[in-house]
Amino acid sequence: ARTAVIVVAAGSGTRLAAGAPKAFVPLDGRTILQHALDGVFAADPAQVVLVVPAGREDEARTIARSSGIAQPSRVARSSRVAPWSAPTPLPLAGRESSPSGANEGVSRPANGGGERVPVAVVVGGDTRQGSVAAGLAALADDIDIVLVHDAARALTPSAQITAVARAVVPGAGVIPALPVVDTLKRVHGADVVAPVDRSELAAAQTPQGFPRRELETAYAQAAQQGIEYTDDAALFAAAGGAVRHVLGSDEAFKITTPHDLERARMILDSTAG
Ligand code: C5P
Repeated sequence: ARTAVIVVAAGSGTRLAAGAPKAFVPLDGRTILQHALDGVFAADPAQVVLVVPAGREDEARTIARSSGIAQPSRVARSSRVAPWSAPTPLPLAGRESSPSGANEGVSRPANGGGERVPVAVVVGGDTRQGSVAAGLAALADDIDIVLVHDAARALTPSAQITAVARAVVPGAGVIPALPVVDTLKRVHGADVVAPVDRSELAAAQTPQGFPRRELETAYAQAAQQGIEYTDDAALFAAAGGAVRHVLGSDEAFKITTPHDLERARMILDSTAG
């Protein structure tokens, strides 16, 4: 299968209040987008589509070009989840793993693939759904699996990206999800109405992966109906697709508030060097 990753980075970042669109906010001497792309390129996709705010296209291209150049924090982060010298190549581009580990050390180019993987940069929409639609329109003809990933989940391990891609099958999308740890209540105004059985719940992350043509059909249907969905999985399910989940990871949290940005900085600090 040939897998593309659409990275949506066109949000305004209002809740982060950092004076720039969220993906372009500095994080550890780089940008949120660059950290996100490091994980994406390390998964060696066949294409990357970057969806950015109008006027940020050139900056996004520059960031994509420099992404994958090893930085201490990046190597440390990646090595915990998908060692740089992984014995088997990550199969997003349709490569078979070598049974004996003969590919050790050549599983991806030394630059992380940033110069080799085709990157398309497109302008996003007013909503996340509109941004994903813009990304879908830029897919290369030969792509058959699409992963949609939030740039704001900047520290997502590349292993999570490959795990989602591997689990996509015809008729079924895949999301990474985490068990819910808090005790949940159904509320109505100030009243607590009922407990909620959290064993039936999971917190959804990205990337969310789908068969390309089926996702395109689902998007066309949502556009026709004028419905905004919570995420790609909900949109895909509304069109009749099945959705499965694989285990997500704590590091794939979405940077939304200043506190989240601080958390990302602490994680990078603790894994540097
Ligand atoms: O706003 P929120 O954090 O939920 O956005 C999730 C992701 O969707 C972010 O990476 C953001 O850049 C992206 N997004 C987008 N276009 C929008 C809104 C959000 O690409 N109009």
